[in-house]
Amino acid sequence: METSSHDVLLVGGGGAGLRAAIAVAETNPKLRVAVISKVYPMRSHTVAAEGGAAGVVKPDDSIDEHCYDTISGGDWLCDQDAVEAFIKEAPQELLRLEHWGCPWSREPDGHIAVRAFGGMKKRRTWFAADKTGFHILHTLFQTTLKYNEIFRYDEWFVTKLLVDDGRVCGVVAIELMSGRIQAITAKAVVLCTGGCGRVFPYTTNAAIKTGDGMSLAYRAGAPLKDMEFIQYHPTGLPFTGILITEAARAEGGYMLNKDGYRYLQDYDLGRPEPKPVLRSMELGPRDRLSQAFVKEIEKGRTIHGPYGEVVHLDLRHLGEKLINQKLPFVRELCLKYEGLDPVTQLIPVRPVVHYMMGGVSTDINGATPLPGLYAAGECACVSINGANRLGSNSLPEILVFGARAGVAAAEFASGAAEQVSQAVLAQAEDERRRLEQQFLRKTDGNERVAVIREAMQKTLESGAGIYRTQKSLEDAATHLAILRERAGNIALDDHSRTFNTELLSALELHCMLDVAICIVHSALSRTESRGAHQRTDYPDRNDRDFLAHTLISQDEHGAIRVNYKPVTITRWPPGERVYGQPTQTAAKA
Ligand code: FUM
Repeated sequence: METSSHDVLLVGGGGAGLRAAIAVAETNPKLRVAVISKVYPMRSHTVAAEGGAAGVVKPDDSIDEHCYDTISGGDWLCDQDAVEAFIKEAPQELLRLEHWGCPWSREPDGHIAVRAFGGMKKRRTWFAADKTGFHILHTLFQTTLKYNEIFRYDEWFVTKLLVDDGRVCGVVAIELMSGRIQAITAKAVVLCTGGCGRVFPYTTNAAIKTGDGMSLAYRAGAPLKDMEFIQYHPTGLPFTGILITEAARAEGGYMLNKDGYRYLQDYDLGRPEPKPVLRSMELGPRDRLSQAFVKEIEKGRTIHGPYGEVVHLDLRHLGEKLINQKLPFVRELCLKYEGLDPVTQLIPVRPVVHYMMGGVSTDINGATPLPGLYAAGECACVSINGANRLGSNSLPEILVFGARAGVAAAEFASGAAEQVSQAVLAQAEDERRRLEQQFLRKTDGNERVAVIREAMQKTLESGAGIYRTQKSLEDAATHLAILRERAGNIALDDHSRTFNTELLSALELHCMLDVAICIVHSALSRTESRGAHQRTDYPDRNDRDFLAHTLISQDEHGAIRVNYKPVTITRWPPGERVYGQPTQTAAKA
């Protein structure tokens, strides 16, 4: 089998992967660094981020306030040492992007413009109109082009992590253009493959977000952390799931039920009285807004649409000028995908899966418990998001932890010897044989990728959606075990080697099934309600038993193990979630 070799290999070419690649090149220019991605980097999902990136920049704001918002927003499941490091470094990273060419929107006097965002009590979200991800990804991509030492494998899919003597030492990957299967060895591998929203039927996530990196780590024996915490974004378009950014509500949009009533005033969104001036009820945290939508359905106050129940997002009062200036992409998406103009018409929206708070368990520098393996961005869980991420914290997250993981991997690789034993090459050869036998040469199966994928998505939505119970989760676990069995019996129609997208879909489906099973088993074990994990049979938060991270892994026989690890609390003891003003405890902290 062909083999190539690098010092550090970044898996994933989105924001976290590219930021990590730059960090590796800057830490030690002698290192041979490569980025491998199943899509051309500019097609990574970072490009779809709209609303903005949080970072303290205005004189009336402070690091402590951003920390507090993040920790209370995460329902005290965040590791506070990680949050503090993140919030301190976020503005530096955003400024660095400015120097690399990111066109941040400005105030009339030239200062960086910031907007309000959900769950944040100060305006601290930097933005580039409502195409922030597009501009960030462009900036990072063009910056990587400066470094000759960054080699790229564009449109390659990684199928396996090579592990020797407990250390990760490379991957096996398929070049999509040719079907060539190759071992790529590396002293350090950094997973930056994004989230897994596609395990659910309605999601803002691009079709590429299939949990590949999470599955690779899980199969290699690394634990996944807090997988039960799934973020629904309250304003997705009903059929496509396309994101209508929270910025639309930050700019003053209203959420209306079928009676044209701003129904959020009837729900506890964690706002103290008197109502703060800055916050509108529409800018409560995403978990609470999505839960309120379910309650509105139960009250019969939603609108029946061709793709299920919806409510309305009303931007009409904002006026054409503001919409064109601050929300041009929202207007474009509505015109293209719904055939309506938000300047004059209501936008139908519903909660759709947006983000995974959980992921590959890492420390504050992106290191996993497997030596040589690092992870950053949405595929990782460094525990800054806890049980519910605040909007606009994920773009700075990919920058801060992409950079940290890149530096850590570079330092590890600088001091490590190459580890390409016969055993490693034999593993790679076994993987090539598996891919040939299980997919490319197999002709006797009777299952279809799309059928199993759809069944998996429906199972997750009904069993592990916005609200869960023991029964719904047990049913989902049973059904997923059956689907996993059936997936072994998939037969491909396409046995060709050139851009075999059916093969890719089958490989992605296996990754999604791993992730789906982890979500459901993690949710079953956590018998409390916290943030985005709402168990109607255990409606209260239980700090005595569950102020802890869920760690799910599999043993050498594939049996699932769930363990817990205490949350790191530094200066903000657990309290009530309040978004208007800090609590007394937090104010003193
Ligand atoms: O609504 C949004 O623009 C989403 C932002 C985020 O998830 O950070």
